[in-house]
Amino acid sequence: MSTLHSIRNAAEALKRASEKVDPRYRPGYHIAAPANWINDPNGMVQFNGEYHVFYQHHPYDEHWGPMHWGHVKSKDLAHWEHCPIALAPGDECDRDGCFSGSAVDDNGVLTLIYTGHHYTHGEHEKDIFTQNQNIAVSRDGIRFDKLGANPVIAEPPADSAHHFRDPKVWKHGDTWYMVLGNATPDGRGRVIRYHSPDLRRWTYDGVLAESDGTLGFMWECPDFFELDGRHVLLFSPQGMERQGDRYMNLFQTGYLVGDYDYETNEFRHGEFREMDHGHDFYAVQTLLDDRGRRIAIGWMDMWESDMPTKSHGWAGALTLPRVLNLDKDGRLLMNPAEETELLRLAQFPLGEAFALTDRRRVSLKESLLEIRVVFDLTGSSAEKVGLILHGGSAEETVILYDIAQEKLTLDASASGKPQDGIRTAPLLRNDLLTLRVFVDRSSVEVFANDGLATLTSRIYPAESPSGLELVAVGGEAAVKEWKYWSLKDVWNESGKAESAEL
Ligand code: FRU
Repeated sequence: MSTLHSIRNAAEALKRASEKVDPRYRPGYHIAAPANWINDPNGMVQFNGEYHVFYQHHPYDEHWGPMHWGHVKSKDLAHWEHCPIALAPGDECDRDGCFSGSAVDDNGVLTLIYTGHHYTHGEHEKDIFTQNQNIAVSRDGIRFDKLGANPVIAEPPADSAHHFRDPKVWKHGDTWYMVLGNATPDGRGRVIRYHSPDLRRWTYDGVLAESDGTLGFMWECPDFFELDGRHVLLFSPQGMERQGDRYMNLFQTGYLVGDYDYETNEFRHGEFREMDHGHDFYAVQTLLDDRGRRIAIGWMDMWESDMPTKSHGWAGALTLPRVLNLDKDGRLLMNPAEETELLRLAQFPLGEAFALTDRRRVSLKESLLEIRVVFDLTGSSAEKVGLILHGGSAEETVILYDIAQEKLTLDASASGKPQDGIRTAPLLRNDLLTLRVFVDRSSVEVFANDGLATLTSRIYPAESPSGLELVAVGGEAAVKEWKYWSLKDVWNESGKAESAEL
């Protein structure tokens, strides 16, 4: 079947499926497909003045399957529109899937670099596969042609396991570089590097970073870039052992910060840190935009987790776009891109400079929210302070900061997915605790103390949010500020006229 044919078939299937989607938990301002399955963000890039984000997509089913690339674009990182499916698998170079990858603007040609997936013993023996790297090009940024010369990298280097995927490509000087997710033959995750003069001919340079045996058997979805004078390697290791509050999800997403020498490919780095401590954050990717911002988006789900919306005809969403920076100790800070403010409709001030003992509750009518609360910990005797989001009578999502233990927790065990339990982020005590919380119909994203800790989780309350509660446990809390905004449903375009100015 020709590529055009497979894309047309997929589009028709997707259209039929989208007519049957139950809107109950559909995101109002996060990226999701019109229907059916999505996972990783792919190919984040700015092209002809617009932001493009692609994603792993199975347009025929709400479960993972032969991977296509879905596509959205935006002028402002806040309002997104769906574009036609960009890549469908089935050609010689990508018989069983167009797996994750990246995109670059090659002198006016939007170029996708992606992994071709091939089962060697039939589709159901999932771990017997080969992977190669391929290219597809577009002048209009919408319709893509795969290169006749694919694959551009036919097989992994000699010293490698068969895991060989998720190319991230960028230009440094006049040279293109690629990092790939990979593993040693004895099962240690690593990232390897290639370089090329023209995106077509690639030379293997060796290992950029590798597990010492404690960081999993495979590193998926690497990304590598300069940030605030250092170099940062993001990747998603599979198979890390849980350690206390750390590494609680099936797979992790985290980073190494260090110094890098392009000539020798030597990356001297510090310890691995998790990037987001919620239940649902994986396979993050970034782009560098024309304002010099490093913007990250992750898949807002986790492999093998329960996804209640499958019975509604869809599964999977992406996080808000987040700007990355490093603090002076080399910790990654993640904050929502300022364009997120374009989503604000009305502001609801809930009080300033008051003392809270126990709880204070307000009722809510809106289900898309941005909440901001600032506690002054210097004037608080409480042991814990925080916020509860109520979704119907017995449903609640609890965000609590334990001041003595310096830990921020998100308890989602009564949020419609009981097996989810609690996730914990370390957060050093500061005079102020600032929480910025984004609530969509089936997600919550917590940004604490200007992005020093983030927790991202899917929630599935039985009813829309019914109330918001501030809490002080074991003493009094000094609340400096408490307010929320109702946010716009950008997929349904309602409320456009009322939107606040940035
Ligand atoms: C990460 C991942 C990638 C792969 C893709 C397949 O979530 O497993 O390594 O390319 O998903 O959909």
